[in-house]
Amino acid sequence: MRMNRYEEIWLILSVGVLVLSMVVTGYQTFAQGMGPPSEMETIDPQKVDETEPFDNPGVFEVGENEYEVVMTLQAFSFTPSDIELPVGAEVTFTMTSKDVIHGFQIAGTNANAMVVPGHIQTITETFDEPGEYLVLCNEYCGAAHEMMSTTITVK
Ligand code: CUA
Repeated sequence: MRMNRYEEIWLILSVGVLVLSMVVTGYQTFAQGMGPPSEMETIDPQKVDETEPFDNPGVFEVGENEYEVVMTLQAFSFTPSDIELPVGAEVTFTMTSKDVIHGFQIAGTNANAMVVPGHIQTITETFDEPGEYLVLCNEYCGAAHEMMSTTITVK
């Protein structure tokens, strides 16, 4: 039986969209490290405050033009909350969650990670433009999820 020509076109288009979205999701999961953690360092989520380096969250200069931001995420905040970084520095964010799964997304950049309790997530970013960057939690984490944000000042 021969299908109607338009039906055929729609069928091809819808299969195409499906395949494309699978490819995009797969790419994001594996290439961009947005998927669930696999080879990450682990940490006892009950003892984050007592475990290095999270017993002392903050911004640290670790090399020439290299910084590390040690950060904890918890409902519904990021610690430290006011981060200042120099333009052009290579910045590694070392993060963990003290409670539930949170997200770490820096608006206007490719930085995007899932921060899972029990695991240490790292993500590296270089800010080439000065400005205020909005950091958002993009994983639903409870009633005030929408309010969970902070800013990074780059100058
Ligand atoms: Cu933290 Cu949503």
